[in-house]
Amino acid sequence: MSTLLIRNGTLLTDRLTYKADILIENDRIREIAPSFPLTAADRVIDADGMLVMPGGVDVHTHMDMPFGGTTSADDFETGTRAAAYGGTTTIVDFAIQPKGTKMRDALDTWWQKAEGKVCIDYGLHMIVTDLGTSGLEDMDDLVREGVASFKLFMAYPNVLMVDDATIFRALGQTAKNGALICMHAENGGVIDVLVQKALAEGKTAPIQHALTRPVRAEAEAVNRAIALAEMAGTPIYIVHLSSEDALNQVREARDRGIPAFAETCPQYLLLSIEELERPNFEGAKYVFTPPLRERHHLSKLWDGLRHDHLQVVSTDHCPFCFADQKQLGKDDFTKIPNGGPGVENRLQLIWHYGVNAGKISANRFVELVSTTPAKLFGMYPRKGALQAGSDADIVIWDPNAEHTISVETHHMRVDYSMFEGFKVRGNVRQVISRGEVVVENNKFQGRVGRGQFLKRAARGGAWN
Ligand code: URP
Ligand code: ZN
Ligand code: ZN
Repeated sequence: MSTLLIRNGTLLTDRLTYKADILIENDRIREIAPSFPLTAADRVIDADGMLVMPGGVDVHTHMDMPFGGTTSADDFETGTRAAAYGGTTTIVDFAIQPKGTKMRDALDTWWQKAEGKVCIDYGLHMIVTDLGTSGLEDMDDLVREGVASFKLFMAYPNVLMVDDATIFRALGQTAKNGALICMHAENGGVIDVLVQKALAEGKTAPIQHALTRPVRAEAEAVNRAIALAEMAGTPIYIVHLSSEDALNQVREARDRGIPAFAETCPQYLLLSIEELERPNFEGAKYVFTPPLRERHHLSKLWDGLRHDHLQVVSTDHCPFCFADQKQLGKDDFTKIPNGGPGVENRLQLIWHYGVNAGKISANRFVELVSTTPAKLFGMYPRKGALQAGSDADIVIWDPNAEHTISVETHHMRVDYSMFEGFKVRGNVRQVISRGEVVVENNKFQGRVGRGQFLKRAARGGAWN
């Protein structure tokens, strides 16, 4: 049996901020009390002056993901190690069902990708591309395996996009099996027409990626997705929401009592469309979907986080190297692999530009980056909580540590940072994953492959 005591820290949860000690036994929190004697554990960490919070939960990452003829640059080893450096102790990644195949086979493929590599605990969503004849039963099978969420695409025609009937059938199944549908909400048909027009006019630069994906294409799809979920009588989760227009759709639905949830990502809170106009093709570094928007959307998204119109901040970490992968679209913006890196920087950015800037409280920060994603995706209170019995996934956070984000120092396997030169105050000092100190002295101390697959609970189910 191993024991670890975290003393003298200030505990920060989604609801409370208070002085207490945490006693960890093996991989779980055994007890939280005002004070334990130094002799209570084999190892003692003095967290005086530190905040002690539940480890970050990033429910939107793409490690080792095939896209546009290439594969995302971080695999489960490099990506989850980078996540740990940034204070994220759980990810939920996306497996993809190739059209015409069984989802169960795709799950095996993604387990193999993670096996022996993953450094923190992970769950999987399944991207559904085809319901075929047995797809609905396949979904039930996956829920039994702990894959209690599915992503569907309303964009990328002929690749990932599914039609409204498929979406409605899938939603109907989750009404019964308690899983959650994550929706990539953009009107793919309209976007395709705009893309073809731009190409026909010889417009091939990265900025065209943003200009051919208007905010109304996002808002329309969000509205439609919520309406389909409402008709199916089931909740829905909108991924990577990027604009005020889309946010208004979610807010209006929630005001009517509809269980619609949505996440946004640091890039939509901090960057805007001008990035895609960087010279020397550098705009390609910012090509992801939905695209970056006009600057006025940013403050609306922060307001949405503050007022709970948005419930989660994830990263949509999907890195492609500039030197070789983004270059695939040098002469045609549609061939630029879509995605950007971010799994390492989420906590730093949201703390600095959210909490330090007075836009959200420290407790709301924990709720957005840890507790609510754990709850929505069937992991709470195993993850996302500081409670006796919870996994000892804990971040010891130094609110005064200063850090400049840079490709020179980050641990993601990608040759640029979307947030190069951003100066943040507030950073991890130690990261504990299931009772093991995995990051300390700015070094990863854990064993590669130590992460476990999380069987997540469907609505009404219990975590295990
Ligand atoms: O551009 C993006 N977001 N790439 C990852 C795939 C997705 O749609 O989430
Ligand atoms: Zn998406
Ligand atoms: Zn994504």
